[in-house]
Amino acid sequence: MSNNRVSRRQFLGYTLTGVGGFMAAGMLMPMVRFAVDPILQQHDAGDFILTDTAVADLSEEPVRVDFAYEQVDAWYTSEVTSSAWVYKEGDKLVALSPVCKHLGCTVNWAADPEHPTQFFCPCHAGRYEKNGQNVAGTPPLGPLDEFEVEERDGFVALGAVKANTIV
Ligand code: FES
Repeated sequence: MSNNRVSRRQFLGYTLTGVGGFMAAGMLMPMVRFAVDPILQQHDAGDFILTDTAVADLSEEPVRVDFAYEQVDAWYTSEVTSSAWVYKEGDKLVALSPVCKHLGCTVNWAADPEHPTQFFCPCHAGRYEKNGQNVAGTPPLGPLDEFEVEERDGFVALGAVKANTIV
């Protein structure tokens, strides 16, 4: 007979520890999975959104291009609509953010009859040049942001917003 016999008390202790650990793991795994799920999702960072504006229809006059995309915020997905002011500069496409750098209102092209070749913000009469440069003496203290932009299959595709590189 071996001296390594397991007593009834030890057997119960091992069994309860094993079963308890198994049950705890069964409860914790879904919670851990739920907590890290957004990290495991594939992100489309850097993807371009194809708009329905044909590049051939663009000129050197900025036009408003509306677009929509799905925004994933942790576990919540929503459709967001946005817009950009897009024009041609020679062969190059330029797309500017319509968000005023003062307090975030939406700027419009040629909305002020006294300044028909500038962007105008109706909230506090902020103005920007066509390239997004803020006009000195008006409230905005920086230029309009710029979208990454390219042509795809003849249409305007917009990417991430970045700081203005053309002023
Ligand atoms: S928010 Fe545009 S000028 Fe103030």
